[in-house]
Amino acid sequence: MGNLFATLFLIAFSLPSILAQCTTPAPSDRYYYDLASVDDKKLYVFGGTLNKTYMDTWALDLSQQVDTSCPPWSQSPPLATTQSISSYIYGVAFSPNNKNNYIYLQGGDAETTGIQRTPVIYDTLQGNWLLSSISGSMTPRSQMTATVDKINNKVWIFGGRVPFEFGMSGNINTFNDLYYYQVSESGTALTITQASITSYYGSPAARFGHTTTLVNNRLITLGGYVKVNDTTKMITDFASAFVYDINTGVGVAMETLGDIPSARTEFSAVAAQDGQSIIIFGGVTADDLQNVTNDVYILDTCTLTWRKQEISGHADGRALHQAYMHGQFMITMLGISGHNQGEPIPNNNLSILDTNLWSWTSSIPSGYSPAGINSSPSCSFTFPAPPAQPQTHGNAPKIYDTTVISNPNAPSTQLTSSEKGGIGVGVPLFIILCLGAAFFFYRRHQRNKTRQLNPRWMPGALSTKSEQEGNNYPMFNYNDQPSTGLRTYTASDHDQWERQLIQDEQRPQDDTPMARHEEIWSRMRGLHAPADEERR
Ligand SMILES: *[C@@H]1O[C@H](CO)[C@@H](O)[C@H](O)[C@H]1NC(C)=O
Repeated sequence: MGNLFATLFLIAFSLPSILAQCTTPAPSDRYYYDLASVDDKKLYVFGGTLNKTYMDTWALDLSQQVDTSCPPWSQSPPLATTQSISSYIYGVAFSPNNKNNYIYLQGGDAETTGIQRTPVIYDTLQGNWLLSSISGSMTPRSQMTATVDKINNKVWIFGGRVPFEFGMSGNINTFNDLYYYQVSESGTALTITQASITSYYGSPAARFGHTTTLVNNRLITLGGYVKVNDTTKMITDFASAFVYDINTGVGVAMETLGDIPSARTEFSAVAAQDGQSIIIFGGVTADDLQNVTNDVYILDTCTLTWRKQEISGHADGRALHQAYMHGQFMITMLGISGHNQGEPIPNNNLSILDTNLWSWTSSIPSGYSPAGINSSPSCSFTFPAPPAQPQTHGNAPKIYDTTVISNPNAPSTQLTSSEKGGIGVGVPLFIILCLGAAFFFYRRHQRNKTRQLNPRWMPGALSTKSEQEGNNYPMFNYNDQPSTGLRTYTASDHDQWERQLIQDEQRPQDDTPMARHEEIWSRMRGLHAPADEERR
């Protein structure tokens, strides 16, 4: 009897661990892969592997409960490489939702050139592969984007670079052109047409490895790389975005505002359910190109304003991945979670972000019926009026894109664009301190200079001498690095510099300023009143 009891006890306690063992096979070690779905019921993973000589294709069944501990994956029978269909990375997959249940794959760096020249078709109903025929042409490319536009029944292809030999690197040659695919009724015949981009500030930057997201009839391109020379690329930061209006063909690169994410590569971007925002996730941060982040940032496309979204729960950092919106759930998988001695660490799991609760969740309930993206958002990006004359560059050029213009939604239009970086942070402080300064100014007059005001803390705007001295807003902006723009100057910086001056052990003995002091003073120049010059 006791034995039976003990056995039952053991079974009862070991049952959960038996159940918890996931025996469903799953894809692994996939980078630079593509995601696509026909009907939001099955999400397919294509490409993204270098060590396979066949096309292996996986599907995540979104019609069942999706649990991150044992996701409902299934594998299509792998297809041996042919001249036309082969393994690839850095390509695109798209399904314009025609009635044929086809998904189209193209390009990237591939084992064979067939898949670079013409899209290949995966028939999701039959589970087999077809070849397409294409009219029109587009130079084969890698690291471009394909953005499905169901309203206009088009798939937009933007940018990219000339493919490298599979798994190798090569000379960098980039594209700044825009094309669209249209699929015939039969589904196997496609046309490709080059779209014009009307740009008033010079040719759009040629990017690759970027993201292009459709929001409210605008294509919004973020991040990626631009070519420096044949062997060197430069990371594009998030301080600007390229916005293309599908209706008018006008494209503009404009500065972004708010809490701009630090530069990162190999992140994902999806259109949020609100119909006006883009969610970016993860990536390799650009500081050392090793650190893989789990940051989530939101870009409000109406004003191109960023905010960092705090997320509850945990998800590993992830990069070299893709993400997919299934109703309110952003699903992401595979890619890498970090580096170990320079070698990427695969991240083979699945993460699910609930974008209503802003929390990482372990499952999507079975029977969940996803709502689509809000088709009538409360606002949209407004294109600025074109300049009277076409310009050769924007008024806020970036090192990676000279066409960038300033953002008219910035708090003040009186400042030059480079000052806006500082003022974005400084404006609330500025208003508070202006009020404070005005109050002191008033008090000073009232008390007839009974109180000595530190002249460094007087906004130049309130000083009668400020115009001649070019001394406006001295508290908030100082030119730390003239080539890269202005930084925010805070009271604690100021205190720190003063402490450095006082505490420096190598104080000059002979009244000659040391280089270090010169440097500190040069940073503070213009921040102090003439009287300070004498005290120094
Ligand atoms: C390419 O640019 C990098 C960075 O500016 C430079 O170090 C390198 O020498 C350049 N290579 C060539 C071939 O010009």
